[in-house]
Amino acid sequence: MKSFTTLTLLLIAQGICMAQTPIYKNKKAPTESRVEDLLKRMTLDEKILQLNQGTVGDNNNPNNNGFKKPSFAEGIGSLIDFSADPAFRNSIQKRAMEETRLGIPILFGYDVIHGFRTVYPISLAQGCSFNTELVQQMCAVSAKETKLSGVDWTFSPMIDVARDPRWGRVSEGYGEDPYTNAMFGVASVRGYQGNQLDAPYSIAACLKHFVGYGMSEGGRDYHYADISPQSLWETYMVPYQAGIKAGAATVMSGFNDISGIPASANHYTLTEVLKNRWSHDGFVVSDWGSVEQLMAQGVAKDRKEAGLKAFMAGVDMDMEDDVYSQNLKQLITEKKIPMTRIDDAVKRVLRIKFRLGLFDSPYTPIVEQRYLQPESKVVAQQLAAESMVLLKNDQHILPITAATSKIALVGPLAKDQEDLLGNWHAHGEAADITTILDGLQKEFGQKVQFNYAKGCAFDGTDESLIAEAVEAARKSDIIIACIGEKAGWTGENTSRSTIALPAIQEKLIAELKKTGKPLVLILGNGRPLELMRLQPMADAILEMWQPGITAGDALASILSGRVNPSGKLDITFPLTTGQIPTYYDMRQAARPYSGKYQDIPTDPLYWFGYGLSYTNFNYAPIQLSSASIRKNQKLTATVEVKNTGATTGKEAVLWYISAPASSISRPMKELKYFEKKEIAAGTKIIYKFELDPIRDLSFPDADGKRHLEAGTFTLMAGDQKIKFELTD
Ligand code: NOJ
Repeated sequence: MKSFTTLTLLLIAQGICMAQTPIYKNKKAPTESRVEDLLKRMTLDEKILQLNQGTVGDNNNPNNNGFKKPSFAEGIGSLIDFSADPAFRNSIQKRAMEETRLGIPILFGYDVIHGFRTVYPISLAQGCSFNTELVQQMCAVSAKETKLSGVDWTFSPMIDVARDPRWGRVSEGYGEDPYTNAMFGVASVRGYQGNQLDAPYSIAACLKHFVGYGMSEGGRDYHYADISPQSLWETYMVPYQAGIKAGAATVMSGFNDISGIPASANHYTLTEVLKNRWSHDGFVVSDWGSVEQLMAQGVAKDRKEAGLKAFMAGVDMDMEDDVYSQNLKQLITEKKIPMTRIDDAVKRVLRIKFRLGLFDSPYTPIVEQRYLQPESKVVAQQLAAESMVLLKNDQHILPITAATSKIALVGPLAKDQEDLLGNWHAHGEAADITTILDGLQKEFGQKVQFNYAKGCAFDGTDESLIAEAVEAARKSDIIIACIGEKAGWTGENTSRSTIALPAIQEKLIAELKKTGKPLVLILGNGRPLELMRLQPMADAILEMWQPGITAGDALASILSGRVNPSGKLDITFPLTTGQIPTYYDMRQAARPYSGKYQDIPTDPLYWFGYGLSYTNFNYAPIQLSSASIRKNQKLTATVEVKNTGATTGKEAVLWYISAPASSISRPMKELKYFEKKEIAAGTKIIYKFELDPIRDLSFPDADGKRHLEAGTFTLMAGDQKIKFELTD
C-alpha cells in the first residue's frame, strides 16, 4: 500500500513537472511547435527585442573605427561579438538565459570571412582554386575555431558577382562569374553549417549582400547600382538562389540602391522572391546601419519611415542602428505595421536559434587549444597553393632549378606579414604568417643564398631603396620581386580610381629589369591589377593573392616545383583600368568586328579561366552521348585530358555553353560546370559533364521566369568545342 502511494505521488509530481515545462523548452518537441509556443508567451517588447542586433567588445573593423556600443538591452536578439572570448560570451548568455523572463538565448555573430584566427586566402583567391571541396573543408575547420570562440553565426559567404575591380570588395567574393560564385557560395554554406546546424562545430551562414552590391557605380563603395531586371536575374540573383537551395540560414540585405529601390527596402527581392518564391524560412539581417541609411538614399524622410520601409520590405533584424528598437512599437500602435509581420519576423529569428540548438546548449565549452590546429594549417596551405595562378612562364623559368644558387628576393612583400593576411582577417595575427623569405629559405635550405632587399615601400616617391635591390639582383642568378597591395587597399570602403600599382613599384621593376637577370614577379593583391607595363618586363608572373598564414610555405612549394600550380583566374585582368568593365560572359556587339578602342588593344590581358601549369594538358575532342536531345532529355559530354608533360598536375576543366539566337540575347559564353582532378604525368583522365537542359540551357527573363528554347548550342572545354541540337 505504502509503495503504491509513493509511486502515485511520484507520477503526479512528474506530471505536474511536465505540465509546467513549456513546449519551447522541450528538446524533443518539433522546432515549429517550440517556435509557436514561445511566440505565444512573448510580449510585444520581447518580440521587438528579438529583431535587434547590438555589439559587444572592441570593434576591429576599420570602417567603424573602434566603435563601442555603451550597452545593449537585456533580452536582445543578437550581438556582434568582437571579443573572441567564450567565457565573456557565456557570461552575457547566462544573463539572457537566467535573468530574462523567458530565457531566450542571444545569437552571437561575427565576420568570419576567410578564417577566424587561422587565416586562409581571401575569397577571390579561393575561387581561383576551382576546388569547391577544399573550400568546403576550409569553411568547416574555420567554423570549428569560430564556434569554440563563442560565435554561432558568420556574416559569410559574400557572393556578390563583381565586375569592377576598382571596387575594393571584389576581394571578398569569388569573382566575376555567377556560376562560380554560386558553387563556392554553396560550398561555404555546407562547410559552415555542416549536416546539422546544431552539431557541435556548425555555425549559421549568411549570404550577403542581397543583392547587386557588386554593381556599385564606378566601383565606388556604397553607391548606386543601376541593374536592369534582366541582369538582376541572370547575374546577381544566381548565387543567392543556389545558396538558399543549399540551406543558408540567413541573408544580409545590401547597402546598395537597386535602380531606385534600395536593397534594404526592396520588397520584391526580399519578400516576393527570397521568402515567397524561394521559400526561405530563416531571417534577413540588415547590413550595418543600412536601415537608417535609407534616409541618405532618399527613400525615407526620417528614421521611423526608414524602419517602416525596411521592415515591411522584409528586413527582419536591424543591425546596429537601433531604428527598430526605437520605432517598431509606435509603428504598430499607428497600425502601419501589422502584428502578423512582427510575428513572422520573430518566428524567423527564433527558428534559427532553435535550429542552432541554442536553447538546449546556450554556452560555449572552454577549449584552450582551438586555434591554428594542424588540420587547419594543412587546409590553409593546400588552399593557398591551389589558389595561386601562374600567369606567365617564358622559357619555363619556373620552377626554380637546382642550378640556381643565388636568388635576389626583393620588394615590399618579401618580408611582410600583415599584408599577406588580406582584408577582413578577423582575429588573424600578422605574427602567424610565414614570410616569403622564411618560406623560401625553409624550402631551398642551404643550397640557395638569398640576397634580400626591400627595394621600395608600397607607395610614395622615395626611390632611395632601389639601388640596394638592383645590387642584390646583380649578385644573383634570378630575381624574385614580390610586389602588390597592402591589405587595407581592398575590402569595404577601399575603392581605387586605378588598378595599377603605385608608380614606385613599377619603377623598381623597371630598374631590376635593366640588370638583364631573369625576373619573376610575385603579385600579392586583393583585386586584378593593371599589368600593362609590368607584364612585358617579367619572364614569369605568379599571382599569389593574399594567401593567409601559410603564405611563404605555399608560395615556396610552387616556386620549387614541389607543387604544380593549378589555379585559374575567377576574374578577368583588364589590360588597363580604362577597359573596365570587361568580363568573359559579355554579350556580343552589334558589330563584333568593330567598336574597338583606338588607343589600346581591346582584349583584356588575362581572361577569366586563364592559368598555366608546369605541365601541358591536351584536350581530345569532346564526345557527346547524342548529337541531338529533346528538352526533357539529358546529355552526357566527356572530354579526355592528357597530361603530356613530365610533371603530375591538377587540371580544372571549365565547361561553357554558347546559346543560339534566342528571344532574349544571351552572353557569348557561360560557364555551366567545372571539375578539378589530378592527372599523373603521361596519363589521361576523362572528365564528364551531365548536362541537364532545364538547368543548364534555360535562361531567366526580367522576372526570373525560365525559358528553354530549341536550337543549336555549342559546348566548350579547353580548346575544344562541339555543337549539338536541342529540339522540342
Ligand atoms: C558591413 C559590411 O558591409 C558587412 O559585410 C558586414 O558583415 C557588416 N558590416 C558587419 O560587420
